[in-house]
Amino acid sequence: MVPTLEKMAADLMAPGKGILAADESETTMAKRLEPLGIANTVDNARRVRELFFTAPDIEKYLSGIILYASSLTNETAEGVAFPRLLEQRGIIPGVKVDNGHGELANFPGEEISYGLETLDTRLTEYYELGARFTKWRSVVHIGDDIPTITALQANAHVLAQYAAMVQAHHMVPIVEPEVLYSGTHTLERSREAHEVTLRTLFRTLESYQIQLSGLILKASMVLPGKESGIPLHAPDVVRETVAALHATVPPNIGGIVFLSGGQTPAEATEHLNGIALHKNPWPITFSYSRALEEEALLAWGGNDEQVHDAHKAFVRRLRYVVQARSGDYQGETA
Ligand code: 13P
Repeated sequence: MVPTLEKMAADLMAPGKGILAADESETTMAKRLEPLGIANTVDNARRVRELFFTAPDIEKYLSGIILYASSLTNETAEGVAFPRLLEQRGIIPGVKVDNGHGELANFPGEEISYGLETLDTRLTEYYELGARFTKWRSVVHIGDDIPTITALQANAHVLAQYAAMVQAHHMVPIVEPEVLYSGTHTLERSREAHEVTLRTLFRTLESYQIQLSGLILKASMVLPGKESGIPLHAPDVVRETVAALHATVPPNIGGIVFLSGGQTPAEATEHLNGIALHKNPWPITFSYSRALEEEALLAWGGNDEQVHDAHKAFVRRLRYVVQARSGDYQGETA
């Protein structure tokens, strides 16, 4: 029997688990590999993913992994296709389906995401390759007079059309309106930007008749701008993030997963733990990329002899974030 979208979303939000976003584009992968002195080749990108997907015990911590579309057809050194490997381990394969973003004409400093025109055909193909959920990211910049309501509405319409199409293909859409950490804004300004972004998005999703129980929100945390000089104070981040989400996100969505967005692994873990300690109407967990991968990539350095150390670093961080998603994180030594 085909599971309902609601059940599929609940499986992704399974207690004690979360999602790895291993869906870096070629340009993002370059930013991860080049500082480590690893060439950004197609095969090195494949090796990075194989490193993560073959780590011991990850199925204990991960409900799903988001792939980059071209990596749906990648294989391990032994010739096992990545989606098949994940399925065999009991991890749900997902795929990032937006085609990036670029300038929104007439709105300096704001961007719109791309990819709707070809989405329907691509979804058929991704489903056949094993994907069962999808992600679409749009970005929101905070600046002097931005975000504007027009840019937020434009992006919300794109996210809603994406979500409708994905549900029609019987996959769970993750909608990700990332309010960016970069900037010189205050914590309060970030909270305002999150609230207007999320309010606009959910109004639009409802007007497109999206089944909210079969949809997951990928949310950024409310942080003072990275270049603001304002130090991160965990209780403030937690309080403002929880307040923004409680004010704007309907209680009946499938769940909320957080992105790490440039926080250190320790910050992203501590903040998630604080959020989880609140009484929230939706299940929450992580869908980190950088905060889960950074330490492992550093330990690996592209060297096959360091695979064991990289796996240890990866699983160690997974253990912490899984504790954090339930509010059970006791610090790095526990
Ligand atoms: P980060 O956790 O590195 O922000 O990545 C999550 C993600 O998928 C952003 O689209």
